[in-house]
Amino acid sequence: MIIGCPKEIKPQEFRVGLTPNTAREAVSHGHKVVVQTGAGAGSGFPDADYIAAGARIADTAEEIFATADMIVKVKEPQAAERRMLREGQLLFTYLHLAPDPEQTKDLLASGCTAIAYETVTDARGGLPLLAPMSEVAGRLAPQVGAWSLQKANGGRGVLMGGVPGVGPATVAVIGGGVVGTHAARIAAGMGADVTVLDRSLPRMRYLDDLYGGTFKTRYASAGNTAELVEQADMVIGAVLIPGAAAPKLVSRAQLSDMRPGAVIVDVAIDQGGCFETSRATTHQDPIYEVDGIVHYCVANMPGAVARTSTIALTNATMPFLLDLADKGWRQACADDPHLLEGLNVHAGKLTYYAVGKALGIDVMSPQLVLKG
Ligand SMILES: NC(=O)c1ccc[n+]([C@@H]2O[C@H](COP(=O)([O-])OP(=O)(O)OC[C@H]3O[C@@H](n4cnc5c(N)ncnc54)[C@H](O)[C@@H]3O)[C@@H](O)[C@H]2O)c1
Repeated sequence: MIIGCPKEIKPQEFRVGLTPNTAREAVSHGHKVVVQTGAGAGSGFPDADYIAAGARIADTAEEIFATADMIVKVKEPQAAERRMLREGQLLFTYLHLAPDPEQTKDLLASGCTAIAYETVTDARGGLPLLAPMSEVAGRLAPQVGAWSLQKANGGRGVLMGGVPGVGPATVAVIGGGVVGTHAARIAAGMGADVTVLDRSLPRMRYLDDLYGGTFKTRYASAGNTAELVEQADMVIGAVLIPGAAAPKLVSRAQLSDMRPGAVIVDVAIDQGGCFETSRATTHQDPIYEVDGIVHYCVANMPGAVARTSTIALTNATMPFLLDLADKGWRQACADDPHLLEGLNVHAGKLTYYAVGKALGIDVMSPQLVLKG
């Protein structure tokens, strides 16, 4: 197969769909890899590294889209890219079609086969190609929160780990899933006094078994949440209700009960945020203040650490990518029902029910597509 990797063109996107290491593995499986010049630069991978891995460098995205059997990307194809997709071509990337009727229409019109990272599943019901980005955002949250706590940034001027004779920062993490667990581990590692709030007792049992000595858990009743938010130097929002907007768990009125200069890091902002006062910010202008509380609400946190994010993402996508390239998408999806869950579009038909429901478009079952 010819695997093509264009440079990402969405503003502020520095990740890349293939690393030199992934390219090397694909080449060793007998495939040809074509990478657009400069595609890896934002993640610290120069063209020379791809060439050393056996890939060819193309000057333009047009050349990649014209020659590749499979296009591997990070972000959903932008309008200019969608115009270059063609019938029979395989697209493997994040798509997030449900809120995006324009993209869906274009993908259907292109005749391509599109497998979305975000809907591929695993045997435990998880989302293995979303989890790495939650891990990154979770681990980044205390780091950006610690910076926001600094006096010059509007924060309380509290050091996460304290010093001998001075207590550490108090951190409350609301939501103990992937983001929350990684956030809590890093905050505790920085020396902070950390409590994770969740509504799932099995999840809290799991966290307590594994991290009982590292951080505390509390049931996320409204009362417990209010109490811990009041006492916190930093509150990290990490809740998710699958398929729904994030619930607002802290109101504006509650900010006046918080410590002046305390910091909110609302990682759930990509689902609307779990604080009433959250609004999405960018890496250029990440924080703002409401009622004396510093808010950090960057919707694409992994972009701040593009290199780590790229490597984490491609570690997760590579086994699927190799399967798709080795067997062709039809056989790869027939052999792996979790990969089949990723199939969103094939030859002008929508194949993912939640997207069809959201956009009012008829869906063809992926199992039927496989038979066809
Ligand atoms: N801003 C970013 O760059 C970025 C990056 C990655 C993920 N995210 C977002 O972070 C959020 C968390 O993602 P995740 O992968 O950790 O999800 P997850 O499903 O692993 O964890 C969510 C947790 O929230 C808990 N929860 C649900 N309702 C709750 C409530 N009312 N109170 C307390 N806990 C509650 C659940 O029990 C679960 O443990 C999502 O909104 C995700 O989209 C944002």
